[in-house]
Formats: sequence, structure tokens, C-alpha cells
Amino acid sequence: MSAVERALSRLGVPQPFSAVASGSSFSAGQGREIVKSSPIGGQELARFRGASVADCQGVFDAAASAFSSWRVVPAPERGRVVRRLGEALREHKQDLATIVSHEAGKVTAEALGEVQEMIDICDFAVGLSRQLYGLTMASERPGHRLAEYWQPLGPVGVISAFNFPVAVWAWNAAIALVCGDSVVWKPSEKTPLSALGCHVISARVLSEFSCPAGLLGLLIGEGDVGQALAESKTFPLISATGSTRMGRAVSATVARRLGRSLLELGGNNAAIVAPSADLELALRAVVFAAVGTAGQRCTTLRRLIAHESLASSFILRLAATYADLRLGDPTREGTLVGPLIDEAAYQGMQGALRQAREQGGRVIGGERALSGVPSGGVYVKPAIVEISPEAPIVQEETFAPILYVMRYRELEQAIAIQNGVAQGLASAIFTNDVREAELFCSATGSDCGIVNVNVGPSGAEIGGAFGGEKDTGGGRESGSDAWKVYMRRVTSTINYSGALPLAQGVRFDL
Ligand code: UN1
Repeated sequence: MSAVERALSRLGVPQPFSAVASGSSFSAGQGREIVKSSPIGGQELARFRGASVADCQGVFDAAASAFSSWRVVPAPERGRVVRRLGEALREHKQDLATIVSHEAGKVTAEALGEVQEMIDICDFAVGLSRQLYGLTMASERPGHRLAEYWQPLGPVGVISAFNFPVAVWAWNAAIALVCGDSVVWKPSEKTPLSALGCHVISARVLSEFSCPAGLLGLLIGEGDVGQALAESKTFPLISATGSTRMGRAVSATVARRLGRSLLELGGNNAAIVAPSADLELALRAVVFAAVGTAGQRCTTLRRLIAHESLASSFILRLAATYADLRLGDPTREGTLVGPLIDEAAYQGMQGALRQAREQGGRVIGGERALSGVPSGGVYVKPAIVEISPEAPIVQEETFAPILYVMRYRELEQAIAIQNGVAQGLASAIFTNDVREAELFCSATGSDCGIVNVNVGPSGAEIGGAFGGEKDTGGGRESGSDAWKVYMRRVTSTINYSGALPLAQGVRFDL
């Protein structure tokens, strides 16, 4: 038995694999066959029929019916279910991480970190279940109370990507559940077993509490299933994570029916290294952000904007560090960079490097690693590309470890370069100068959703709201008050006087 088979069996994932589930009830999909091979060495992990559009309605209806009873369960009671979910995830942390590692190619520490992110958001959501606070405003009318409170919104559709195959679902599901919503999840068809692992763990928790099965639904399928979710009026909210191209399509579909979308799309994240920076710290942060998850995070550092006084020496140190990076089997102790998800990702990377060269870039690394890595997987040496900020390729997010390095003279110029791309997810400055740090965080500084000082752009904690502006889609999920997107805001005026004064002093005497 392989490590993945053992993990799946300990989690109790039913075999043969099913692409369609509502709580503990599983059924076979009627869509195209999904064949999942491990990016580590190409071994086949799963082969089963995916969900089709014909499979959707049953799961959608179950989610709608589950919502109608779940919304009246008091929020702190809903929180108890999420607390148990967090415990179950703690118990199964290792097994779920093993599946994530084998399916997404993440190194063990990052796979464990991803499951920890799920546990953290459950803890956050449990606290939140007693803090879905409303407001009371001063009414302008005597004998009136003006208040605002929050009600469950409805079933939430969640579309997630391969690179965070479990955490992004949990960000949505844990919050949606305490808010009184049901959830239907369409994971990436590139990570079906991670999704099944999460689903069985959570479905068991639902059964323990006798929750309606349709509270958590799963449809493992292709884009047509995502499109069906986006089209369906069952879902007042669609939360989608993935490429900007996918997000545009989902958002247009959801907008046509006047639904709400929460989009977390592409990033083209930059870090500025200023003359006063602690260069040791900056170097470590830059390397983790640029090569972690083999450059396949939305938050991956893609552009380094280094002050001209230090750029050359910093690039040399970076290149030396890159040369020593431990690349290979992500499940092996000590590996820092695992494989790309598939051959298409490799082709995308080579295409971007070709364009970078044509546009005057000087490329260090980027070639396929062939020795010391499992055969059958796609392993690449992370690339550093010295290039002009004007080169068109710098505008693009390529989901691979490519770090474009640019130089600047004045901070304003660096900020203009940082903001001069279509995306607006995460950003960072390395500086020990308080004026520079504050300017970067000010209204005329970074235009991103995530603005860090002496911290790289990736690896956000769950407690803050996560997301970004411009082509990143504008959504915020996870912590802070992101929960409000999952609820219906009610503004309520109560008249306890015997009179009927009208607002704005309007007179309407009958
Ligand atoms: C993503 O890449 O879609 O901040 C999410 C980070 C992680 C989440 C990334 N906590 O890098």
C-alpha cells in the first residue's frame, strides 16, 4: 500500500472514488473520467468518473434544503460543529497533509502548514460564532430604534484551485457554516483526493451532530460544473479562487443573475529592497516567497525591486542561495522545492523565460532539474531574471518559480513599478527606515490588498482578511470581517411610539 492509499484508508475515503457527495451520501459522477497522477513521480493516484452538469441539481437542492434548517440553529451551536471539525482536522492532520503532498507536490512542512491553516480558521470561526455583531444607530425619530444585524445568506458555491487544495475550502466553509450557510464545493480536478479527504472528515462531523447531509456538498468536475454553480440562483454567493481569466468568466455569469461573487484571482506580487534593509532577513524572506510551493502560490513573489546600490550584490547572493536549494521529492525530509503541478506548467514557465530573453532579460536558472529528483515528475531550477520593468512579460503571472529582478533609484519610482501591473494581491518592502515603511503603507504607497513591511508577500496568517484589488478580483476571505460577505445585512427600524413621524421631516397628512 502506498502512503496515499494508507492515508485515504485511515480517513475512511470510500472506494471506488465518487465525484459527487452530499454529506455522507456519495454517488458516482456522470462526467468525463478524471485521471490523477502524482506530480512527484507520475504515479497514477486515482481514476474515476468526474461530476457532470447532470449531477449538479441534486447536490444544489440538498444544499438549499439544508440551508433552510441550518439557518435557524443558533450561531454558537453552529460553532460547536465547527469546533469539532477543527478537532477532527487536528486528529487527521498528518494524513490529510500526506495526500496534499502527493497530489499537489507540496513539501511536507508546507502541506502540514496548509492543514494548520484549516485548523486555525476553524478556531477563528468558533470564536466568531459568538461575535456576529450588529450595530445600533441613533434614529432621527423619537420612539424609534434603528439597528443593523446579520442573517444567514444562503448556500455558498466554492470554486478552488490546485495550489491550496484544502485551506481555501476551509476558509470559506468554516466561516459559511457559522454564518448559517450551506456550502457546495467544486475543487480543482487536479486535486480530487485532497477534496475527498476533507469531505469525509467533515461529513463524519456533520453526522455526529445530526446535521442535514446537504450542508456540505462536493462536485469534483471540470469547468462546466463551476459554470453550473455560477449560473444557479441557488447560490447568492460564489467564492472563486483561481486565474483572472476564470474569475472574469465566473463573475460575469454571477453578475448576470445579480448574485454576489468573492474573487481571489491572480497575483503579480513584488517586494522592494531598500538601502536600509536588513539584507540577511530580506534574502531569506525573498527566497521563501519566490520558490516556496515551487512558485505556485497566488502570493508568490514574482518581482523583486532592488535599490541600485545593492541590486548587483543581492542578485549574486540570491543566485548562490538558489544554487544550493534542495530540490526534489517533496515528501523527503529537508526538501525545499518540490515539483511543478504538471507538464503544462513547465511549458508555461519555458514560454515565459523565452519571452523574457527576447525582451532583453538575463536569465539565471530555470532549466529542468534531472539529477537527484524522482523521474516522472517535473522539477525545475527556480529562475532569476534581470529585466527592465518595461518588459511586457513582467506584467504576467506565470505559475512557476520565476523571479524578475528590477532596479530603482527613488522610492517613488519603486512604488510606481510595484503598482504598475494589472494585479493587486500582495506586496512587501524591506526597509529599516520608518518613513519609507509608512509611505509604502500609505494611500500613495502599495495599491495591493496585502501590504507588508519586512515580511514577504506570501504566507499570510488567517486572522487578516485575504485578497487583493484590480485583476485580483477585490474579494476578501478568511479572517477579520470577511464573514460579512457570507451573510445578509438587515437594516431594521422599529417604531415603539404611538406616532408616525416620517424620516427627513416629510409630512404626509391624510
Ligand atoms: C493562494 O495561493 O491561493 O498567504 C493562497 C499565503 C497562504 C495562502 C495562499 N496563506 O501564501
